[in-house]
This record gives sequence, C-alpha cells and structure tokens, in this order.
Amino acid sequence: TQLRWTQEGNMWLGVLLTLLLCASLEGQENPFTINSIHMEILPRQEVRNGENLTLQCIVDVSTTSRVKPQHQVLFYKDDVLFHNVSSMENTESYFISQARVYDAGRYKCTVILNSKEKTTAEYKVLVKGVSDPRVTLDKKEVIEGGVVMVTCSVPEEKPPIHFTIEKLELNVKDVKQRREKTAQSQNFVTLEFTVEEQDRVISFYCQASIVSGTSVEISNSIRSDLVTVRESFSNPKFHISPKGVIIEGDQLLIKCTIQVTHQAQSFPEIIIQKDKEIVAHSRNGSEAVYSVMATVEHNSNYTCKVEASRISKVSSIVVNITELFSRPKLKSSTTRLDQGEGLSLWCFIPGAPPAANFTIQKGDVIMSQDQNFTKIASEWDSGTYSCVAGIGKVVKRSNKVQITVCEMLSKPSIFHDSRSEVIKGQTIEVSCQSVNGSSPISYQLLKGSDILANQNVSSNEPAVFKDNPTKDVEYQCLADNCHSHASMFSEVLRVKVIAPVDEVKLSVLLNEEVESGQAIVLRCSVKEGSGPITYKFYKDKENKPFHEVTSNDTQAIWHEPTASKEQEGRYYCMASNRATPSKNILPSNTLTVRVYLAPWKKGLIAVVVITVIIVALILGARFYFLKKAKAKQMPVEMSRPAAPLLNSNNEKTLSDPNTEANRHYGYNEDVGNHAMKPLNENKEPLTLDVEYTEVEVTSPEPHRGLGTKGTETVYSEIRKADPDLVENRYSRTEGSLDGT
Ligand SMILES: *[C@@H]1O[C@H](CO)[C@@H](O)[C@H](O)[C@H]1NC(C)=O
Ligand SMILES: *[C@@H]1O[C@H](CO)[C@@H](O)[C@H](O)[C@H]1NC(C)=O
Ligand SMILES: *[C@@H]1O[C@H](CO)[C@@H](O)[C@H](O)[C@H]1NC(C)=O
Ligand SMILES: *[C@@H]1O[C@H](CO)[C@@H](O)[C@H](O)[C@H]1NC(C)=O
Ligand SMILES: *[C@@H]1O[C@H](CO)[C@@H](O)[C@H](O)[C@H]1NC(C)=O
Ligand SMILES: *[C@@H]1O[C@H](CO)[C@@H](O)[C@H](O)[C@H]1NC(C)=O
Ligand SMILES: *[C@@H]1O[C@H](CO)[C@@H](O)[C@H](O)[C@H]1NC(C)=O
Ligand SMILES: *[C@@H]1O[C@H](CO)[C@@H](O)[C@H](O)[C@H]1NC(C)=O
Ligand SMILES: *[C@@H]1O[C@H](CO)[C@@H](O)[C@H](O)[C@H]1NC(C)=O
Ligand SMILES: *[C@@H]1O[C@H](CO)[C@@H](O)[C@H](O)[C@H]1NC(C)=O
Repeated sequence: TQLRWTQEGNMWLGVLLTLLLCASLEGQENPFTINSIHMEILPRQEVRNGENLTLQCIVDVSTTSRVKPQHQVLFYKDDVLFHNVSSMENTESYFISQARVYDAGRYKCTVILNSKEKTTAEYKVLVKGVSDPRVTLDKKEVIEGGVVMVTCSVPEEKPPIHFTIEKLELNVKDVKQRREKTAQSQNFVTLEFTVEEQDRVISFYCQASIVSGTSVEISNSIRSDLVTVRESFSNPKFHISPKGVIIEGDQLLIKCTIQVTHQAQSFPEIIIQKDKEIVAHSRNGSEAVYSVMATVEHNSNYTCKVEASRISKVSSIVVNITELFSRPKLKSSTTRLDQGEGLSLWCFIPGAPPAANFTIQKGDVIMSQDQNFTKIASEWDSGTYSCVAGIGKVVKRSNKVQITVCEMLSKPSIFHDSRSEVIKGQTIEVSCQSVNGSSPISYQLLKGSDILANQNVSSNEPAVFKDNPTKDVEYQCLADNCHSHASMFSEVLRVKVIAPVDEVKLSVLLNEEVESGQAIVLRCSVKEGSGPITYKFYKDKENKPFHEVTSNDTQAIWHEPTASKEQEGRYYCMASNRATPSKNILPSNTLTVRVYLAPWKKGLIAVVVITVIIVALILGARFYFLKKAKAKQMPVEMSRPAAPLLNSNNEKTLSDPNTEANRHYGYNEDVGNHAMKPLNENKEPLTLDVEYTEVEVTSPEPHRGLGTKGTETVYSEIRKADPDLVENRYSRTEGSLDGT
C-alpha cells in the first residue's frame, strides 16, 4: 500500500507543478499592479429606512495583457465578510433592497489579485428612521375598569427594539397613560392598559426605536383603532334638601345617587364624607343619605365617593347653612376671687338677640336657668363655667370660663417626726400644713431667718421638708395661696440637736507613776457630746466600772487620794449619752498606772538589810581572829592595827592619800548637806529592781575584800555602776544611819 500511495502522490504533485508553472509563466509574462480601490455607496451613504441601497467596489488594475486578470472581491460589514465574488470586472456591486436599521454599519471591500491584496477605507452607512410599527387591539369596546391588550410590532426590523405605547382620549392631546418596553428577542410587544373612569373613546399610539451605533432611530407614531368605553355606573350626583337657603334648625338631607348599567353585577359602595369623616354610606343601593338637623357645624364641603374594584368616582358639594343666632358668650366679673366675694356671670348672644332660653352650667351641673347668675362665692364654686343658649331646637354652647374661688389659708401648723430631740447627723422631716384653704399652696420653710426650701402642694396635705441640723435650730413655715391675704406664718418650731459622744480619751493628771500614798487622778474626756454624758471608769478586765458619773461637762475626773499597790493596773473609760446607741459605745485608750514604794521606805529596808549584814560580818571577823589568835600566835598579825577598820567615817580616814577616796569624801560633804532635806523631795526615778540588785551585789563582796575595808568596799562597788546614784545612795544611807 505504501508503494501505491507514493505513486499516487507523485502523480498529483506533477499536476500541481504543471499548474503552478503555467500560472507563473503567465504572471511573468503579464505583469500587473492594483492602482487603486474604492467604494461607492448609492444613492448616498445616508439613506432613509426602506430605500434601496447599492454598495460598489471599484478596482483599477494595470496590466500588459489584453485580457483583464481574474481577481477576487470581498465585501465586509463591521469587519465581517458577507460577500465574496470572483470577477474580471473593474466594478463589483452588492445590492440591498429596502435598507433597514440593521443594514447600517461600516463597510469596506478587499481585492485579491494573485498574491497582491488591497483594501478600501471604511465607509459608514447610515439608515435613518424605523419602518412604521403596526398596532393591534384585542377589543374595540370596553367597560370602565376593564383591560385592553395592545400589541405593537415592527416585522421588518430586528430586535432589540424599544416600544412606547401611549393611551390618548379622542380629540385630547394629553397622554393619559404611557407604557414602555424593550423586546429583546422579538420584534413585537403586548401591553395591558386599564380603562379608567374618565375614559370615553380611546386610542393607542405606538412608536418603535432601535439603537444604531451611537444614535437611536425612531419610527413614526402609529395610531391604533378606536376603543369605545362604556360606563359601569354614572358619576355620583348630590341632592340637597331643603332647596335654597338652609337655616339652622331645618332638617338637612344630603343624598348622593348613581346610575348603574346592566352589566354591573353588584352595586359599588357609596360614601358621603364631611372632610375626613364618613357621615353616610351604602353598599347595596344606588344612593346614600345623610340626614341631620342643620347647624352651622354642618357647613362643609361634602364629598360623595363611589368605589368599585378598580375605579372610583368622586363629586363634591359645598353646603352653606345660614346661622339662626350667633354663638352665645359667657362673661364673668372676675376669674379669680376670694371666698365671700361676689361672683356674677352673664350669658348673652351677640348681635340683635331674639328671645332665647339660657342655661348657665358649671361642668355638667346647671347653676342657673337664667341669663345672669350671681352669688357669694364659696370654695366649691371654683370650676369651669359655660352657658347654653337655645332658640327652638337650635342649641348653642358658649365659650368656657375658668373661675377660681380662693379660700383663705388657715394658720399653717409646723411639726416634725415624733422625737423631740434630734441626733446630730440625722435627717429630720419638718412638715407644714394648712388644713383649710384652697390649693395649690406654696410653702416656704425658714431655718432661722434663711429660706431653706420652697414646695408647692396641690392639696391640703402637709408639705414635707428634709433637713440635717447640726445644732439647735428654729424652723418656721410660710404658706401662701391664691387668696389675696398675705402669706401666713406658722409658730416657731424649736428643735434640740444632741451630738453623740465622740473621741473618748483617758488621761492621767500628775504622774503615771505614783508613789504609794500619793494621789491618782484620772480624767475621762470627750471631744464632743451633748450632756448629760455618763462616764464609766474601768480597771483591768473588770466587767463593772469602779467609778461612774453623769455630767453635763465634756470631762469627768476620778480621784484616789492615797494610792496603794492595789491601784496599780491598766485603766480605761467609756462615755455615752442618749444619742449613743448602746452597742456603739467605744472604750477610750488604756493607761497603765504604776505605784511604787516611797524612797525612804526603800532606804529603811536597805539599811536594815545592810546593818544585819555588817553585824554578821563583824561577828564573823571577830570570831575568826579570836580563833586564829588562839591557834597560832603570829606577831605580824598582831602588829596590824584594827581601829581604822571600824571607824570608816572618822576624820582620820580623810588623811588617807587615796585620790579616789578624797574625791569621794569631797562629794560626801556636799551630799551631807542635802541629806538634811526631806527625803520625799528626791524625785529621782529609781526602780525597786535596781535597788534590790544593789543589795544583792554588796552581799557577796565581803568574801573578796574580807574584813579589810568592810563597808567601804560595798559602796565603791555601787559607785562603779553609777557614780551619782551611788553618792546619793551613800549619803542617804549615812543620813538614815545618823537618824537611827
Ligand atoms: C427597489 O428595488 C426593487 C427590486 O428589488 C424594485 O422593485 C423597486 O422598484 C426599487 N425601488 C425603487 C424606489 O427604486
Ligand atoms: C471566496 O470564495 C472562494 C470560492 O468560492 C474561496 O476559495 C475563498 O477562500 C473565499 N475567500 C474567502 C476570504 O473566504
Ligand atoms: C341594604 O342593606 C341594608 C342592610 O344592610 C338594608 O337595610 C337595606 O334595605 C338594603 N337596601 C337595599 C336597597 O337593598
Ligand atoms: C371640595 O373638596 C374636593 C375634594 O377634596 C375638592 O376637589 C373641591 O375643590 C372642594 N370644593 C370646594 C368648593 O372647596
Ligand atoms: C354662605 O351663604 C352666605 C349667605 O347666605 C354667604 O354670605 C356666605 O359667603 C356663604 N358661604 C359660603 C362658604 O359659600
Ligand atoms: C344681666 O347682667 C347684665 C350685666 O351684668 C345686664 O346688662 C343685664 O341687663 C342683665 N340681664 C338680666 C336679664 O338680668
Ligand atoms: C324656651 O323653653 C321653653 C320650655 O322648654 C319653650 O317652651 C320655649 O319655646 C323656649 N323658648 C325659646 C325661645 O326657645
Ligand atoms: C377648717 O375648716 C373647718 C370647717 O370649715 C373648721 O371646723 C376648722 O376649724 C378649720 N380649721 C382651721 C385650722 O381653721
Ligand atoms: C410654686 O408655684 C409658684 C407659682 O405657682 C412658682 O412660681 C414656683 O416656682 C413654684 N415652686 C416650686 C418649687 O415648684
Ligand atoms: C445638765 O443641764 C441641764 C440643762 O441643760 C440641767 O437641767 C441638768 O440639771 C444638768 N445636769 C447636771 C447633772 O448638771
């Protein structure tokens, strides 16, 4: 098979080559060139819709051959090839019979001669106008409220086409209704038109418009056949009785009627309106009636509306009723008067008043059947008055007059909530009340001479004011109302304000450290508090106070003239008054009081103890020496003098060249003078503890110095701890020794 293919291919190739050779030979033999190419649009580039249109492509070719060369002519519209012809002529034409909007566009043609090709410029062809549309209707006669289907089409044109259909009344220029629609894929539309109540003979106009390039081409407006409209019911008609002038008191009858055609299945609704208010209506008949006794209030523009599903017809009429007499007027001598003053009311009809019946009323209560009303006013006469005037059946009410009769206020009472005393910081309510007198009452509360607050009360209930007095105050009320009498003062309300006890403090007068036998004075004081205040003094953890006193003073004193050791301890106090809630009583600070022994007592004890020790030492030493003397007769020991030992305070000792001892004795002389003064003058603080330590330290001393310096050693040891102290102590001891 492969072989056969090759053979066939060779054969075709030969034919093709022959053809090409012939052509090239011819071309080479006859050179040619396209000189120019252009188009001609006949009759014009812009034609009216429906005109015949011819597109010509004219080619100018130069050649040496006598035979014109075969060439191809291609026609394009908007770059789309639509005509392709092979020709030997110079001119090639394309004919468009009855040009339409869609034929408008940009045209060009191309000529191809062998491998040469030339194209014209673009020629813009415009088609003006749209062919006339056709309008058809589904009916020629229609009832009010019915529907007409209107079809409009342009068979010659291509969509999209925009249709406008208008409804017009015959011989009337104004368009009654316009509807528009664009058909996207068809060249027609069908639209629905409702027939309204005013329509009589109607027709429809249709116009088609098509977008062509950047412009819009519009057709003529074509009218449809006529449609005759038939009424379903007539326009409503008013009938007013009585005819002519209508006077107040006449029976007024307003009737609205319609005529209904036979086609109508049911009656439309008839409504008579006075302004917005429906005064009569009918659903099942051809008329509606409004009947009323005529008064000027019935003067109005009455409207009758007849309504079916889609249509409503309206007519209106102005009813003018002549006044029989004008509206009465009520006059009052005054609108505000005090109780007991005269009140007179007068009702009258302005203009020439015919005989009329008058009634003067307060609210709905008849006060007088007369034109005039006079009385001495009481509080109950306050209110809104009006009068009614009547002639025959016609009754008219006057303006309203507000009368206020003021009852004089009774003297206002002033009181406050129950308690006679007020605790400082608490709010009290002070009330003012005038039991009698017209309300509203305006109260003022005076605190001292200042206005504290104002309050208006719309009844005779008390006005309640709140205040926070901090000290004793006087309140007074001032009440006033509409009465011409001046403001009324109440009595003065005196309020006593008691302050609760604040900041309880315990302090000790004189000294916290008391020598036994001296006085202890404790003071319990408060910073603030109204008397009487109860002060209670407590000691340590005792539950009961050891001293209790009630006083108007802000302090209380407890006095113990002779302190003993039992009075030593921790003290506190409590203070309260009637403003202090019992559970809120707070204790004062706690003070510690110490009671110590008088110095001379201590000294006495010390001297006794020392004396006992010295005696013991002397006895001990004597016993020792006696024993030694007896056992070993030592001459050295015997030669030693024993006298200075015993006379420690002797003048001879002063000759001792010991500096320390000298200084000591020098002081000793000074101290010796002091020693003559009363002992209790010495206020030097000295605790018993220190005193005992002193004594304890001295007692083991003899074991060290053992006999040689005796008492001297004891005192010098004390001196080392505190020289001043020891000096005094020494002098005291000496003094006391002297005393004994
Ligand atoms: C338009 O061309 C048609 C033939 O296609 C011809 O019958 C008609 O008469 C021409 N109209 C005009 C106005 O020349
Ligand atoms: C024009 O028509 C011829 C034959 O009728 C065809 O060979 C040629 O391709 C066509 N040209 C174009 C541009 O379609
Ligand atoms: C209309 O209906 C009312 C009751 O709804 C009736 O009294 C009246 O007679 C009816 N009128 C007619 C004309 O049918
Ligand atoms: C009465 O009312 C109708 C509807 O509100 C109005 O069209 C008409 O002009 C009015 N007539 C008069 C006299 O005011
Ligand atoms: C009503 O009628 C009186 C005379 O009877 C006339 O003076 C007045 O202008 C009329 N009012 C209206 C609103 O027509
Ligand atoms: C009523 O009082 C007015 C003025 O107050 C007076 O002019 C009138 O005559 C009185 N009418 C009667 C009927 O008393
Ligand atoms: C006043 O009222 C009486 C009784 O109601 C009546 O007989 C008389 O006609 C009335 N007068 C007028 C002017 O309306
Ligand atoms: C209030 O009025 C009544 C009767 O009107 C009288 O009995 C009473 O005493 C009056 N009270 C005062 C406080 O004036
Ligand atoms: C009370 O009423 C008087 C007059 O009616 C008014 O001037 C005043 O401002 C009122 N006071 C209060 C506190 O409402
Ligand atoms: C305290 O003062 C009041 C008067 O303010 C007096 O009645 C009372 O007797 C006084 N009490 C004492 C204990 O002084």
